[in-house]
Order: sequence, then structure tokens, then C-alpha cells
Amino acid sequence: MKENLTAVILGAGLGTRMKSEKAKVLHEAGGDTILNHVIRAALTVTAPERIVVVVGHQADKVKQSVRAAGIRFAVQAEQKGTGHAARCARNAIDSEDGLLLILNGDGPLLRAETVQKLVQAAEAHGGGGALITTELPDPTGYGRIIRDENGTIACIIEQKSGTPEQLAIREVNPGAYCFRARPFWSYIDELRPSVPAQEFYLTDMAEILARHGYPVLPVAVEDYTELLGINTRVELATADRILRMRKATALMLGGVTIEHPETVTIDIDVEVGADSLIEANVQLRGTTRVGSNCRIGTGSVIRNCRIADGVTVLPYVIADDSALAAGACAGPFSRLRMEAEVAENAHIGNFVELKKTKFGAGAKANHLAYLGDATIGGEVNIGAGTITCNYDGERKHPTTIEDGAFIGSNSTLVAPLKIGAGAYVAAGSTITKDVEADALALGRAYQVDKPDWARKRREKKR
Ligand code: UD1
Ligand code: CA
Repeated sequence: MKENLTAVILGAGLGTRMKSEKAKVLHEAGGDTILNHVIRAALTVTAPERIVVVVGHQADKVKQSVRAAGIRFAVQAEQKGTGHAARCARNAIDSEDGLLLILNGDGPLLRAETVQKLVQAAEAHGGGGALITTELPDPTGYGRIIRDENGTIACIIEQKSGTPEQLAIREVNPGAYCFRARPFWSYIDELRPSVPAQEFYLTDMAEILARHGYPVLPVAVEDYTELLGINTRVELATADRILRMRKATALMLGGVTIEHPETVTIDIDVEVGADSLIEANVQLRGTTRVGSNCRIGTGSVIRNCRIADGVTVLPYVIADDSALAAGACAGPFSRLRMEAEVAENAHIGNFVELKKTKFGAGAKANHLAYLGDATIGGEVNIGAGTITCNYDGERKHPTTIEDGAFIGSNSTLVAPLKIGAGAYVAAGSTITKDVEADALALGRAYQVDKPDWARKRREKKR
């Protein structure tokens, strides 16, 4: 980009057609809010300090939802239309030179390449700048592009004010504009309230600029699916589907195998290394990073996790804010509830739950266990049915199990507790005191055998 560029993103509307208490731009698709997707696109052509988001409905929530640092905000207290919203951004802008990119806040599918193409076209064209157009199979609801004899834009006619002939036009305005800033700001006050909506339409700027000798160039884009505006939840679902498929496609092109890619849900910021395999119906959410040569089993839902290289996640593992180191294996049906750290080559099996637990290298908990607030050493064996009793009804207490210890099945470990290295806990024990290294701890009732008791009982019944 040769010229300096300021971007304004319009996000003040409520979005009545969403039938929601939440501002439209806060709704999510593809793992991020609609607004953050638009900001991502703008960030590919300008710095965050040169992006102004116009907020209005739930202004504070919308501001807080923005993830990129340094973005500016302007407030449109009353929603008097897109032209009015743009006008409200003026005070937050440093420079009225160069180019002014204006994007509707409700178009999350807009690709970076398309924004770049728009900016280049505006730069090359001069005049009043350029705006994206596309042909829709059904243009209902969108502003229609009326071209003049030179092929530039005569005006944009909104659905509410169009004649039948105008409404038959299928070339529409998707709401992505790159104006030349000087004439735009010089003439913005010529906007008049529309009939019948009484709103200031940003789209009227095309006609105003053309009238003053700054015609706006239409930049036609073939793939209309990236230009859909989100007005209803049905369109939100469509956007989500498209964003998910884009993400899956990008991963596959990067060397990840995805079985039934139409069934997986992978958020935009997730990373997956080459030669990993993702089975059907997997969800990888938030900031999850998966290394290379991993396998993620069907039905697993993994959020904000770090998964190193060569990890196997068998089907139906639910993991949040946790980490699995190289060569570790979890599942099927394991739960890493929060802040679980599973070290190299450790195994977590079915119906094992870990919470705030460090699980040592090569350690195993293969079946039916709850390990909470625990630090478990290397090569420890946790028998089926082991429970750390970490909560006394008021406070949480830690359990430490040192390297090489063996916890027999169905052990109840009452925290705070320390089991020394190499120690054994006999199956079925309730352990309430620390166990020394290399000791055997038995915490269960001794077995009593009564010879012939059963036979005598049977004979008495006859
Ligand atoms: C707008 C365009 C229409 C275009 C369509 C593309 C106008 C007048 N019409 O119509 O030509 O085809 O987008 O999707 O611009 N907003 C504000 N303040 C307001 C009103 C809206 O910030 O006072 C924001 C909304 O939050 C939204 C964006 O501007 O992000 C577009 O507003 P919306 O009401 O959805 O416009 P459309 O009717 O879809
Ligand atoms: Ca819209």
C-alpha cells in the first residue's frame, strides 16, 4: 500500500433481525465474534491504531470483545444509519488524507485478499475510490448497484426505496468501501435522511461523490459467499459453515488429514502440525495447538490445550486448558477438566478425570480415577478406582505421589497427602497419613474367613 489508510468498521447496530439481547457483532461464527473477523481483514491493510470501530449498542461489551490491541473506538449514541455511523468516526481519526476503508461490521466472511484488491483498485482509480460489488442469486435486502455509462457507480439504491426495475438488479453492495478520504469528508455533510427510513445512508455517498466529480469504481468479486452480511441466525449458521470449511481446508493444505472435514469444528486460531490426523466430529476450540503426527479421536472436544508432537487422543476426550506432552495418550472418554499437565509418554485412560494435576512422564492411570490438585511423579501407576479426596467441603488440598509409586485399585487418598517414591498402596485402602518412600501402606479392614459358613446356611434352609 503506497498511501496511508484509515479503516472504519461499523458495529453500532443492534441487529433486530437476530432476535437477540446481544449486539449483532458479538455473535460468533467460526470461533470468533463477527466483529473480530472483520477486524482481522482490516488488519491486513492497516495498523490497529488506524482502525476505528464505531460502537453503539452494548458499546462496552463490544469494546471488551475486541481482541486485537490498539484498536480505536468511536461512539454512535443513536443509530441513525450507516452514513451517520461513519460520520461519528471522524473525531477518532488522525488523518483525513489518503484512503478511507469502511467495512460493515456484520460481514465476517470478507477475505483479506479481497480487502487488499479493493484498496489497490481505489489507489489506482483515484476519483472517489472504489467499492466491492457482487452478483447475488437473490439480492433481496441488499443495496443495488446502479452503474453509469462509464461503468462507475451512479448511485446505490436501498431495498426500501427501489423501483421494481432497480430491485431486479442483482449486482449488490456488500458493504466494503475504500473511499478517497479528502472528498469523502468534504461532502459527508451532504447526506440527507432517507425516505422512508429516515436514516443517513452511507451508500448515498457514491452518488454524492460522483456528482462532485469523484466517481466511485465498482470492484466486482465473483464469489458472493464471502460477501454475505449477517442479519439473521440462519445467515450466522451459513457463515459458520463457510468459516469452518475454510479453516479445515487451510489445515488440509498444510498437511493435516481430516476425515469428514464437513463434520469438524475448528476455531480460527487453532494450529495443527503436519501429518496429524483429525477424525470426524472433533472440536478444536480457542487457542488449541496440536503438534505434528498426532491423532485426535472422533468426538473429542479440546479447548485451549497444548498438544505436543506424537500425542494420541482416543475418541471422546474432553479437555480444557490443559497440556499433553510428546508421546502421551489420552482416552477414550478421558476428561482433562482444567490445568492438567500430562508429561511425556504418560497414559490417561477411560473415565479418568484430571483437575489441576501434573501427571508425570510414563505414568499411567488407565481406568476410572479422579485425580485433583495432585502432583504425580514419573512412572507412577494409578489403579482403577483411585480417588484423590481433595475437597473437605471448604477447602481444596494437595496430593503428591512421588516417582515410581504404585497405587492399588480402589484407593481413597485423603488429602493433604504424600506418597513417597516407590511406595505401594494396597488395593482398597483409605489412606489418610503420608506414606514413606518404598513402604507398603494398607488401609483396609482385614479379611475374615469363616469356613463352611455358606454350606451350613444352605443346609439350615432345607
Ligand atoms: C447495508 C447497506 C446495503 C448493503 C448491506 C450489505 C446501507 C444504507 N445499506 O444494509 O447497501 O447491501 O449493508 O450487508 O448502508 N450500523 C451502525 N449504525 C447504524 C446502522 C448500522 O453502526 O446506525 C452498522 C451495523 O452494526 C452493521 C452495519 O452498519 O454492522 C450495516 O448495517 P445494517 O443495518 O445491517 O445494514 P443493511 O440493512 O444490511
Ligand atoms: Ca447487514
